[in-house]
Amino acid sequence: MRIASDSATLRAWLHAARTAGARVAFVPTMGNLHAGHQALFIHARQHAPLVVASVYVNPLQFGAGEDFDAYPRTPDQDREVLEAAGVDILFAPDDAQIYPRGRTAHTWVEVPGLSDELCGQYRPGHFRGVCTVVARLFNLVAPDVALFGKKDYQQWLLIRLMVGDLGMPVEVIGVDTVREPDGLALSSRNRYLAAAERQTAPRLYAVLAQLAGQLRKPGATFAALEADALRALRDAGFRPDYVSVRRQADLAPPAADDRALVVLAAAWLGRTRLIDNLEVDLNTAS
Ligand code: PAF
Repeated sequence: MRIASDSATLRAWLHAARTAGARVAFVPTMGNLHAGHQALFIHARQHAPLVVASVYVNPLQFGAGEDFDAYPRTPDQDREVLEAAGVDILFAPDDAQIYPRGRTAHTWVEVPGLSDELCGQYRPGHFRGVCTVVARLFNLVAPDVALFGKKDYQQWLLIRLMVGDLGMPVEVIGVDTVREPDGLALSSRNRYLAAAERQTAPRLYAVLAQLAGQLRKPGATFAALEADALRALRDAGFRPDYVSVRRQADLAPPAADDRALVVLAAAWLGRTRLIDNLEVDLNTAS
């Protein structure tokens, strides 16, 4: 694996590869790589012979009082994971490479509307930071295809909206969430959980699965099911931000005849904020 820490080197390597005819697949990450990221690298390889990953903890997507300073940075372990996954090029920039005029002077990229809902309502400015860094990375890497985990379902949709709005020639692919055997979605933030919280954490997925099952039964309203799920999370010891049933296609509130749904939730356990979601297709049996 070749490692570029500056954009000029990265561009030169990618220019050479593209001149030789290679398609480029790109996986942007914030490091602390786990099996969820590995799934992204494996999918990336299926889409292109040249796989590029980036590791950059983007300050612009963390709000005041969030965990930017504490966010786990594990560069040696990350390099091992990337090598083992067969990633060809790692781009590991510093702030100056990503925000040459400084963080606050940078041009922002913002997808209106959906950025302020669901997680955006509780993390103001978060998705503006995500879209800004992903746009910058897409311009540097110029990938043919980019892969994102569906655990961050809203992020995945917002990136697709941004790419469509700005006419970026990138195919954006979502990859299914990887879970622990007990159902907990893999996340770098799981390492913040104390032992007792780790025992409770899989309840988030269990509550979503229960809600998904209820959606298949006639009668109950979305609002009543969301309220039941919020209650179940509080009873288990979470402080939920939201539980919401939405349409897969655009994360709008579903109409009665919408069939492709997704149930999304964010909830705190102690000082750790967990998110998860579950797609539900009411046209299929389970
Ligand atoms: O999902 C993440 O790890 C980050 O939000 C991303 C897409 C790498 C942008 O910093």
